[in-house]
Amino acid sequence: MTDDLYFSSGTEVRLFEWAFHQHMPVMLTGPTGCGKTRLVEHMGQLLGRPVVTISCHDDLTSSDLVGRFMVSGGDVVWLDGPLTRAVKSGAICYLDEVVEARHDSLAILHSLTDHRRTLYLDRADEVVRAPDSFMLVCSYNPAYRSSLKELKPSFRQRFVTVAMDYLAPDREAEVIVAETGVDAAVARRLVNCATSIREADAVFHFEPPSTRVLVAAARLVAAGAGELEAARACVLAPLSSDGAIGAGLEQIAAAHLRGAADPATRTTRETP
Ligand SMILES: Nc1ncnc2c1ncn2[C@@H]1O[C@H](COP(=O)(O)OP(=O)(O)OP(=O)(O)O)[C@@H](O)[C@H]1O
Ligand SMILES: [Mg+2]
Repeated sequence: MTDDLYFSSGTEVRLFEWAFHQHMPVMLTGPTGCGKTRLVEHMGQLLGRPVVTISCHDDLTSSDLVGRFMVSGGDVVWLDGPLTRAVKSGAICYLDEVVEARHDSLAILHSLTDHRRTLYLDRADEVVRAPDSFMLVCSYNPAYRSSLKELKPSFRQRFVTVAMDYLAPDREAEVIVAETGVDAAVARRLVNCATSIREADAVFHFEPPSTRVLVAAARLVAAGAGELEAARACVLAPLSSDGAIGAGLEQIAAAHLRGAADPATRTTRETP
């Protein structure tokens, strides 16, 4: 198993590469666990650039991004933040869940994401021009968007948007096999189960099961769990705590998965 193994679903790798070579920032959108972070890690390897990840949240300030003055040994010195370090070193800077950050914290990115490609560090009295190898990548999950947490059009329209979704079933099953070593038939049954739940999404009204939870269930199966018990723990339980919905999900899972641990599905990764 390789940590950065990435299965492409379409044109996202090419779009990313074109954007990189044109020095354009990229916005990844898609549901949880569909491969956004994995794609960024993969592109870092492919393009030979380090990836600096910043997880965005309500309290993130522009100083957290660009840096601040600190007292060090009696002196006051400027300390670059992760964004400034990423710009100076020509890295890929990945702002995860960018929609969580406040608008005033993101304003610092405007000059970096247009033709200027420049960070203005007013407090440090420094102007940092991004080298060609610097790339800004942001991501967010449109399902979490609320009116309070909308990105401004002036921000969104600066990016090449790469809209991601779960892989096609065959491809998603390949990911599960590659990530966990389970039999292709087990992977396919887990994907079929997830597909049925995703198709019933309009009834359930929750974020559907992701590739991440299928990989997690398959890991338990690889370790000896039955498919149904693994799916209960990793796929069904995180979806809903509502008893009636749980019963409906259980029925779907039981229709697709095997109940008992099947020795034939175990792999060489299992400890004896
Ligand atoms: N295209 C893919 N290729 C390889 N693995 C994938 C792919 N998509 C999903 N996975 C698997 O699903 C897991 C979750 O993917 P990832 O962390 O990239 O999701 P994400 O979109 O960043 O989710 P979140 O929005 O919750 O951060 C990965 O660790 C990997 O096991
Ligand atoms: Mg992620």
